[in-house]
Amino acid sequence: MASHLPSFHVFLAVAVALCLCRSSLSSAADVLDRTRRPEFAAWMAGVRATIHERPELAFEEIETSRLVRKELDAMGVGYRYPIAGTGIVATIGTGRSPFVALRADIDALPMQEEVEWEHKSKVSMKMHACGHDAHTVMLLGAARILQERRHELQGTVVLLFQPGEEVGTGARRMVADGAVDNVDAIFGFHVSVGLPTGVVGSRSGPLLAGCGFFEAVITGKGGHAARPHGSVDPVAAASAVVLALQSLVSREADPLDSQVVSVTRFRAGNAFNVIPDSVTVGGTFRCFSKEGFSRLKRRIEEVIVAQSAVHRCGAAVDFNARGTPLLPPTINSPALHAHFEAVATETLGAAHVHGALEPCMGSEDFATYSEAVPASHFYFVGIRNETEGLVHLAHSPHFLVDDGALPFGAALHASLAMRYLDERHRDVSQSHEVL
Ligand SMILES: *[C@@H]1O[C@H](CO)[C@@H](O)[C@H](O)[C@H]1NC(C)=O
Ligand SMILES: [Zn+2]
Ligand SMILES: [Zn+2]
Repeated sequence: MASHLPSFHVFLAVAVALCLCRSSLSSAADVLDRTRRPEFAAWMAGVRATIHERPELAFEEIETSRLVRKELDAMGVGYRYPIAGTGIVATIGTGRSPFVALRADIDALPMQEEVEWEHKSKVSMKMHACGHDAHTVMLLGAARILQERRHELQGTVVLLFQPGEEVGTGARRMVADGAVDNVDAIFGFHVSVGLPTGVVGSRSGPLLAGCGFFEAVITGKGGHAARPHGSVDPVAAASAVVLALQSLVSREADPLDSQVVSVTRFRAGNAFNVIPDSVTVGGTFRCFSKEGFSRLKRRIEEVIVAQSAVHRCGAAVDFNARGTPLLPPTINSPALHAHFEAVATETLGAAHVHGALEPCMGSEDFATYSEAVPASHFYFVGIRNETEGLVHLAHSPHFLVDDGALPFGAALHASLAMRYLDERHRDVSQSHEVL
């Protein structure tokens, strides 16, 4: 039959396509195919089950860290340890500039898991209720992909396994230990039940709020409850303080500049018939702008001190009582967000990428890296699966991650980094040609 002519053309086309493939990076779709292979997906789910059963709190992630190092050793990936106590900084690639970092947090929360499943936490009052077990495994998945394709990397990928996110100081300690020295860009991620499995999202500009905590001790003079005139009542003063704080957002902030002040603690006396000497009031404040943040901090102190004085009490305000530094807002670089949208669309298809998510008043210590790295970007990886009943918010005792989401997170992390290095490398070589 006359079929050899067309088949010769097909042969040529295939040969050309193969050549093109060899000389360019693996496509984002190839990477997702790889992480979705049954063996790869099962390996990730297995490592996650092990971490989930043995949750460890901030800066106590001894076994989690050991397991991560064991997996990195098995892949032949080099790393520095310890960083920030229990943290690990792995590197894959040329060892030279440009450097792009991917960050996962590895700590759990002090709460009791109430999900009845095969891999329920075996440790009472400790639970991976924020999905950091999934983050850890997605980053290990990305490490494996990057290691398999290390000869394609046009620079160095730095993988950060960070302890102590939930207490707000892990990122700060990683930075202090040099984890992001020379890093040009950093990507962070969080699982979210706001998005279904297979969907990712983020936005350009402000994504998560800056966050601070305050605690005030309001001091009067205790006495018999039957003789209020013989005492100076700090309970009445503290009550007035709580009400006065409500107007900092409702009456003083620009309604278009989202802010929150929440009083969450109120500790007064113990008896029914004793006016206590002092009352402790504490809470949190959130905001997206630097100006709003410093205004709230200043006004919280002024209002507490002045309202206490109205009731003849003294007050001392502490912004570091929780041992947590102020966290800046998480603000995404527009250039990295465009990169995220392009790579995510190639990986998952445009219908599965939300490029303009609403900002959220939650906060992340990832924002601390943005003070040390020129460009940063944070995004969400969907884990919602209604048929499986996986709809509970992070920090709920019913929170559960859909293991089906692990391949998507791993593939996207790896492709974001590979493509970033490729583009940076091309920019640099083009500018050399111009010179
Ligand atoms: C949810 O889980 C079901 C059953 O395991 C699966 O068929 C479905 O594809 C999942 N949904 C998503 C959004 O992944
Ligand atoms: Zn959390
Ligand atoms: Zn978290």
